[in-house]
Amino acid sequence: MSLLHVDDVVVQFGGVTAVNHANFEVEAGTITGLIGPNGAGKTTTFNVVTGLQTPTSGRVLLDGKDISRMPVHRRARAGIGRTFQRLEAFGSLTVEDNVRTALDIHDGVKGFLRVVDGSADLEIAALLERVGIAEHAKERADSIPTGTARLLELARALACDPRLLLLDEPSSGLDESETVAFGELLQELAAEGRTILMVEHDMDLVMNVCQDIHVLDFGSIIARGTPAEIRVDPVVQKAYLGYADDEEGVA
Ligand SMILES: Nc1ncnc2c1ncn2[C@@H]1O[C@H](COP(=O)(O)OP(=O)(O)OP(=O)(O)O)[C@@H](O)[C@H]1O
Ligand SMILES: [Mg+2]
Repeated sequence: MSLLHVDDVVVQFGGVTAVNHANFEVEAGTITGLIGPNGAGKTTTFNVVTGLQTPTSGRVLLDGKDISRMPVHRRARAGIGRTFQRLEAFGSLTVEDNVRTALDIHDGVKGFLRVVDGSADLEIAALLERVGIAEHAKERADSIPTGTARLLELARALACDPRLLLLDEPSSGLDESETVAFGELLQELAAEGRTILMVEHDMDLVMNVCQDIHVLDFGSIIARGTPAEIRVDPVVQKAYLGYADDEEGVA
């Protein structure tokens, strides 16, 4: 059984159908890509999965269980974490306090003991180190560069120990070498057993790290396959490029 099943989801905003009977599954332990042109409905789909957007119809299943009516915080408790395309860090807090906030909420009552024995501080430092932004720990989140803030959002999401991590355009704002390091981090997270669903426009990153790719266009899944299959799929090329006979493929 797949870890995540987006089951025939429709989202309408007035006359706009942002998601149109989208149907796809994400297998546990994989890095899966959700790609598609601007406005295809990728972020709206993420919002449906995380509970920020109520679908017009359709269901979201986690481990086979229908979570469609579960509120956002309970989905987080159930193991769904995310980052945001439009950054949602707490701007007036420092980088480390952004992560601390998530860790405190995740730890609940036991968090008090972790503050007293210092293990919370150690874990925050380790998370910042892991995503590569330790030197920014004491800076306010609204003063750091976009790429760093994306990594901060990743650290904050990891503080809640998610089994399903949804990343919305995580590499935008990272330079080439940072993107390579980021790809390696994603592979490490997947090797630990985390499942990653990633919306991303950097096709090199998608093709390098994803085992499975779903392609969304006008709110519907138009293709699914391995990077090698998606690269040469004429339907995908048409959606991206407007014609089907480009030999270079989507990358
Ligand atoms: N809250 C909203 N109200 C009205 N329309 C919306 C809303 N959110 C998204 N839309 C519309 O729904 C469609 C899908 O938007 P969405 O942000 O999900 O696309 P996307 O695939 O994430 O695009 P991008 O690659 O540009 O981030 C677009 O036409 C967008 O304008
Ligand atoms: Mg988007």
